[in-house]
Amino acid sequence: MDNRPIGFLDSGVGGLTVVKELIRQLPQEEVVYIGDSARAPYGPRSAEQIRDFTWDLVRFLLTKDVKMIVIACNTATAVVWEDIKAKLDIPVIGVILPGASAAIQTNQGGKIGVIGTPMTIQSDIYREKIQLLSPQTEVMSLSCPRFAPLVESNEISSNLARQVVYESLIPMIDQGVDTLVLGCTHYPLLRPLIQEAVGDGVSLIDSGAECIRDVSVLLNYFQLNRSWQEGEPNHRFYTTASAKIFKEIAENWLKIEINVEHVDL
Ligand code: DGL
Repeated sequence: MDNRPIGFLDSGVGGLTVVKELIRQLPQEEVVYIGDSARAPYGPRSAEQIRDFTWDLVRFLLTKDVKMIVIACNTATAVVWEDIKAKLDIPVIGVILPGASAAIQTNQGGKIGVIGTPMTIQSDIYREKIQLLSPQTEVMSLSCPRFAPLVESNEISSNLARQVVYESLIPMIDQGVDTLVLGCTHYPLLRPLIQEAVGDGVSLIDSGAECIRDVSVLLNYFQLNRSWQEGEPNHRFYTTASAKIFKEIAENWLKIEINVEHVDL
């Protein structure tokens, strides 16, 4: 048993989609979350900046004595997961490999679509990981730079959001893709609009939610589960921007009351 919390990091509120799945699948675990909304979006930034910012978040989580870190951000996973994993002596989970395997499992027609931030798509990491596991599978990638800013400003169901989502996804429509990876943890907040744009025949893969299966396997393997005797978990959320906006988005999404603190990194 290890009763310490699990650390989650993201450029902003996107990692909450991963936390939601953790709370559903592993309700006894405790969360410490840091979202860097003051510097979001990460997607259009240089690899060097993304690396530096992500390390800032990792260092913050380490001060909270976490037993494991979940990089709940595809962009940060694409750029710096391997480096962080190699340097820390606690398990570090990224979201890309779990998303790639889930997509292969679901896919029927041999063609998988991937949407993500400019950096994730430019890195081509989903194609690399999907074809590493299944070389015959075709991958069609599309960058959607306007999605994360919509979510950060809590525009997830407005007419503007519907229009941006539809327009951005036009190149993906009628391409014979039956599986679409939501390769950014912000995108599940836009899921109904994305599904409406691509049609019901396309299965959406939530890369962040998929990674909780890996979290669970590692907790079991290394016997790191938190004990029920500790009582209800006391989740803690931190943001580098407005605690009020973060709290509004988070409570609406997670359907629980939470404490949010502003921090300067
Ligand atoms: N949530 C992030 C991801 O999964 C990044 C969004 C952004 O900051 O551009 O890629």
